[in-house]
Amino acid sequence: MQNGKNRESWGSRMGIILAVAGSALGLGNFLRFPVQAANNGGGAFMIPYFVAFLLLGIPLMWIEWTAGRFGGGFGHGTAPGIFHSMWEKNRFIKYFGVIGIFGPMVIFIYYTYIESWLLGYSFFSLTGMLSKVSDQSGMESFLNGYQGVVSNEYFSGLKWAYIFFVITFILNISVIYYGIRSGIERLCRLAMPILLFFGVILAVRVLTLGTPDPAKPEWNLLNGLGFLWNPNFKALLDAKVWLAAAGQIFFTLSVGIGVILTYASYLKKKDDVALSGLTSATTNEFAEVILGGSIVIPAAFVFFGPAGIEKVAQSGAFNLGFVTMPLIFKKIYLGSAFAFMWFGLLFLAGITSSVSLAQPAIAFLEDEFNVTRRDAVSVFGTITFIFCQPAIFLLSRGVVDELDFWGGTFCLVLFATIETILFAWVFGIDRAWEEIHHGADIKIPKFYKYIIKYVTPLFLIVIMVSWFWQQGLPTILMEGVSQDNKPFILMTRLILVGMFALLAVLVNVAWRNRKPK
Ligand code: ALA
Repeated sequence: MQNGKNRESWGSRMGIILAVAGSALGLGNFLRFPVQAANNGGGAFMIPYFVAFLLLGIPLMWIEWTAGRFGGGFGHGTAPGIFHSMWEKNRFIKYFGVIGIFGPMVIFIYYTYIESWLLGYSFFSLTGMLSKVSDQSGMESFLNGYQGVVSNEYFSGLKWAYIFFVITFILNISVIYYGIRSGIERLCRLAMPILLFFGVILAVRVLTLGTPDPAKPEWNLLNGLGFLWNPNFKALLDAKVWLAAAGQIFFTLSVGIGVILTYASYLKKKDDVALSGLTSATTNEFAEVILGGSIVIPAAFVFFGPAGIEKVAQSGAFNLGFVTMPLIFKKIYLGSAFAFMWFGLLFLAGITSSVSLAQPAIAFLEDEFNVTRRDAVSVFGTITFIFCQPAIFLLSRGVVDELDFWGGTFCLVLFATIETILFAWVFGIDRAWEEIHHGADIKIPKFYKYIIKYVTPLFLIVIMVSWFWQQGLPTILMEGVSQDNKPFILMTRLILVGMFALLAVLVNVAWRNRKPK
């Protein structure tokens, strides 16, 4: 791609901040965060979580905003080109950048499907179908029936799930089709205030629940909040909690994925990145910790008690959101309206994230192959629609978990480590520091220069090695996977290898076709 091509740009500063916050704020804040907190002992989780936010989350935000804007100046909106512009002499660095297109595309495939369940559940809340289900096992079988895992009195087959998936997919593709300013920015301007408003109403409702069951006075709101906030210093020695906290920070902030690089590439050289990066990170944390933390955990605590929360969280990643929450809404006045707000909020949070996951692939085709947005969106839409099918039809075979492992965990940690080392050590911290402050509206405290240079990379390497040892290797070796499911997992891996190889070949072709300077 040549310098100076007329690339798209954001309409306003508020627009990009809302878009990055929209990308960050997603299912991770309201579904994944409470499950992680509950599975890792509530209060034990929060100290590593905040440490990871300060030492990984904020630095990575600044790195991605800055590197993205830098690469955008050379006409590159995705990691292969951005990495190459930061280390021109190296012929291989662009291939590491493939992870920044591959990872978001893989997440997009399963994320859009889960997002579509939320549209379905919003509909079932409005029509009163959900409120007819009376107990925990009923709610679980409603969810399993919807997912097509079993046929029961609620659903037979995947008809409903497929309809909502197609609607969700078309909505995503339409937003991307309209582009950065008229599509993504407009969606985020509309959706973000609504979802924050719904979040505040739900949090206020939960925080006024008091002690709903007088027979169990200890299941009260204060203890519910204490479950999340009372620190447990002993757990700080448990590596698993640190890994979970760091993983949550990556996922929730959308860092290490590649999407913020792409969004920031549409900035102009003089635009601020320091304050904007910080603002988007803190908006996400406000939504996660204050709103996300005030809804699911305290509500589940007052109705089901501490052991109840842990049991539900361990029984399945979606059970707190899709089983426990609708049951809670049944117990409160105007429950269907609150259930609609809950699933509507999640759907909006989901779509502002999924469009960001699509954008790197679109930007790659536009920037490196000069194709029109229309063609780029058609290619992306066709390929991802085909790849969504295994996620939909083979959910019970572990395909979604496998996609989440590679796209939503493995790639994130690896990509974050590569970009941090590239930024702080190859590009050079002095140049990087100057670049962050170019056009900046704040001066970042100097100690962050040392954090970015030494602490963040070291922290990332420790996380990567211990995570690989504890969780990565057993998953790669398919420990605990049933014999029946192994062929499906292997098939998923083959598809992923094929996708990665195709993207690497495209990078090769794009660079070969570039006119020599
Ligand atoms: N950051 C997005 C989320 O939290 C992916 O869901």
